[in-house]
Amino acid sequence: MSAEKSYILEDSGVLRFPEGFIWGAATAAYQIEGAARDGGRGPSIWDTFSRTPGKVHAGHTGDVACDHYHRYPDDVRLMGDLGLHAYRFSISWPRVQPDGSGPVNPRGLDFYDRLVDELHGTGITPIATLYHWDLPQTLEDRGGWTSRETAERFAEYAAIVHSRLGDRVETWTTLNEPWCSAFLGYASGIHAPGRAEPGLGFAATHHLLLGHGLAVGALRAAGAGRIGITLNLAPVLGDDAEAVSIVDGLQNRIFLDPVLRGEYPADVVERAKRFTDWSFVEGGDLETIGRPIDLLGVNYYHPQTVAARTGAPANPTYPGSEGIDFPRPDVPRTAMGWPVQPFGLTDLLVRLSRDYPGTPLIITENGAAFDDVVEDGQIHDTGRLSYLDGHLRAAHAAIEAGADLRGYLVWSLLDNFEWAEGYAKRFGVVHVDYTTQRRTPKDSALWYRDVVRRNGL
Ligand code: FCB
Repeated sequence: MSAEKSYILEDSGVLRFPEGFIWGAATAAYQIEGAARDGGRGPSIWDTFSRTPGKVHAGHTGDVACDHYHRYPDDVRLMGDLGLHAYRFSISWPRVQPDGSGPVNPRGLDFYDRLVDELHGTGITPIATLYHWDLPQTLEDRGGWTSRETAERFAEYAAIVHSRLGDRVETWTTLNEPWCSAFLGYASGIHAPGRAEPGLGFAATHHLLLGHGLAVGALRAAGAGRIGITLNLAPVLGDDAEAVSIVDGLQNRIFLDPVLRGEYPADVVERAKRFTDWSFVEGGDLETIGRPIDLLGVNYYHPQTVAARTGAPANPTYPGSEGIDFPRPDVPRTAMGWPVQPFGLTDLLVRLSRDYPGTPLIITENGAAFDDVVEDGQIHDTGRLSYLDGHLRAAHAAIEAGADLRGYLVWSLLDNFEWAEGYAKRFGVVHVDYTTQRRTPKDSALWYRDVVRRNGL
């Protein structure tokens, strides 16, 4: 790709992206759809978790969210107004298969069918994510991702969705951020299903990855166009090489190595032996997990800084991280408390191209929450705008350094249900008034529209 790249730093100071660069936005089903009991949808682990006292900010749930299930035509029109090329959305497994296996709910598939047609009618390319955390509760009751059965059911579900949408959806993402599903969901319990045992984090990791590999096989057999997975990756910063390597292993390599090299990193396996005997890894699993993919989705928000400190307790989200601190670097932060360090995106993309060459990259999420203020019907979200500007510059620098980056999808199109933070954190470039469901493009959306139009900054 680098030979034909066409971006140039023009005299005008405009930074151009390669021709054909994909610009879009991302969302996820549970975060925006609402209609939690409509159209035959079954319960997911997030319905259960959000109803468990103390788990989600102020007891918020995704019952109504942005009511996108009913308002999708307006939302697609909005994307059209912003000139987006692509829209990454996720499909709710319990809407399609209320129990996660067995009978298909045709009304669930009908919804995505209409959405995809609406997108095509507006000239927007759909990018479908098959799993963005809303596991059918029935499967969780049988062990969820700690059970091998869930991986098998996931591949069946992938084939069902493809058989309905595959004629109009070319690009498929199996999983969104399996790190969060495994380590927030099963090791620290900060996310659904809220189980908290270090060993379960590793079992969930393996079955998520196996589910990915089995789904790649099912989608490939069905003739899917392009298949990928989305990982949340973070450069790990710090002076202590061992601490950096331990956290890098748990955050990045435990997913990258099996998917792109067909093997688990030996150091991670060794260190995790005090939590698990890895007996859930069966012969042939790694070949399945390592099946070739066409695209790696990268979600980037911020780097992870670590420091060695004797006696530091383990961070439950990183099993085995005793003696490691996660200090907050002294830099500006978003409303999530996340450090704003755009250079991390350049480093990450360059590293991926160097260490895992041959797989094209797409940024499937990047964005920031800020405490927006509505003034006379306008939202001057300068913090978000400058976050996005800085990260696009960082992405551009990575392309210049040779990274094979094909596109950028901002998180998120709309303010939405931010998991354990409920509606308290706003990531949208479009503001949502949750009382009226009114959508208002923020300044960042209008700026992004110009970026898309110019294919640059
Ligand atoms: C990612 C999730 C996405 C959203 C952003 C802020 O981890 O994939 O759903 O919550 O963070």
